[in-house]
Amino acid sequence: MTASTMDELVSLCKRRGFIFQSNDIYGGIKGLYDYGPMGVELKNNLKQSWWKSMIYERDDIEGLDASILTAPAVLKHSGHEDTFTDPLVDCKSCKARWRDDQLENNTCPNCKSTDLTEPRPFNLMFKTAIGPVDDGTSFAYLRPETAQQIFTNFKNVIDSTNKSLPFGIAQIGKAFRNEITPRNFIFRVREFEQMELEFFVDPGTDEKWHKHWVDLRYNWWIDQGIKKANIELYTVEKKDLSHYSKATIDIMYKFPHGNEELEGIANRTDFDLGSHTKNQDEFDITAKVMENKKSTTKLAIHKLEEKKWIIPFVIEPSAGVDRGVLALLNEAYFNDVQNSRIVLALKPHLSPIKAAVIPLKRNNEELVNLAKKIKKDLQKIGLGRVILENSGNIGKSYRRHDEVGTPLCITVDFETLENNTVTIRDRDTMKQQRVNIDMLESYYSKYFD
Ligand code: GAP
Repeated sequence: MTASTMDELVSLCKRRGFIFQSNDIYGGIKGLYDYGPMGVELKNNLKQSWWKSMIYERDDIEGLDASILTAPAVLKHSGHEDTFTDPLVDCKSCKARWRDDQLENNTCPNCKSTDLTEPRPFNLMFKTAIGPVDDGTSFAYLRPETAQQIFTNFKNVIDSTNKSLPFGIAQIGKAFRNEITPRNFIFRVREFEQMELEFFVDPGTDEKWHKHWVDLRYNWWIDQGIKKANIELYTVEKKDLSHYSKATIDIMYKFPHGNEELEGIANRTDFDLGSHTKNQDEFDITAKVMENKKSTTKLAIHKLEEKKWIIPFVIEPSAGVDRGVLALLNEAYFNDVQNSRIVLALKPHLSPIKAAVIPLKRNNEELVNLAKKIKKDLQKIGLGRVILENSGNIGKSYRRHDEVGTPLCITVDFETLENNTVTIRDRDTMKQQRVNIDMLESYYSKYFD
């Protein structure tokens, strides 16, 4: 199991419509990818699984979908304007630009020269003009993390939901980073999606909650189909912590290019809510107090029993959707040499297509109409996409659906017309069984339950 190289995954993704290079017909732009018909389903299923576990299966987390364009003041106070940088170096020989911390032996990977400039900080945030005149005075950033708009909406959410500590706000959405060297397919890109939770807790209980969320998030990835042998926890060293973090544990996954971060779980203390809060002097804030603060709001909670306002601490599990997709594709990839097929053994809830209904002969009206009806009835159950696969070649149809991870192929053949049964083929075992059409809906629902 698992792909042996990234190239195998890239090739499958293109061949079967998971992921394409973006802007490809004009030569492409580095670090941008588009999700095709299968990719968008897989990605949506992953996000839905996260949302379900965060929002629907709990009562202490609310959802949010905030704007991408972000006021500079927000990212000034969050510390991103000043510190969200990577060290940039130029090769004086070939003029290529690199991230200093990713170079081996201070050598240009392009021309092998060691004649490089001194590293200088390069801010990763994208900017865009707001309004009709682009004179540099009115601009916004494309958010580099979804988290900040969770913090700025903190008061809106507690006022509209009456939440008390501990509670969380979760969001899934795009984030943008002008990476110096995007690389490794969808692992490090310039436009990506994050699934982020900000879980607000009483100061003093933060370390206990941090451990709790690390366990929950590790087990969630296992539930999505990641094998324990391919995932591990890594405690980020103090010197490598983000400016807002007191402690961070990364969930590391064995990607085809190496062991790298899939998700980070940080103890952000009261840094962000503190930085965005007016009249900070009233509070005992761990965060560095920012200058020129202009926030109009107190992002704090009133503790009735203690008769005081406190700024909560925040535990933040932050996962990359694209890295999740890459890890799951890699886990599921199986070169079944014995049966001359590639199989994507995704967990059924993540599979882009739940069932393919295949009429044995593409021009036989009776078979095709029956297949169409079965597709419609199963689709109505609402567990995800069901497809009518009318290519006329059963062997090719099975192969295609093995490669995109469809758990069930339902074939309508001439026996169906005689005794009202269809064949159900299981992706992983390749075993086939005949099931009466009247039992199909309950068989299908039970399978995905
Ligand atoms: N709010 C905290 C935060 O943004 P981060 O470690 O910078 O923390 C969180 O990012 C997650 O976002 C990472 O674990 C990774 O999965 C994903 N991510 C970050 N940069 C990325 C990039 N350039 N391309 C793809 N995913 C990225």
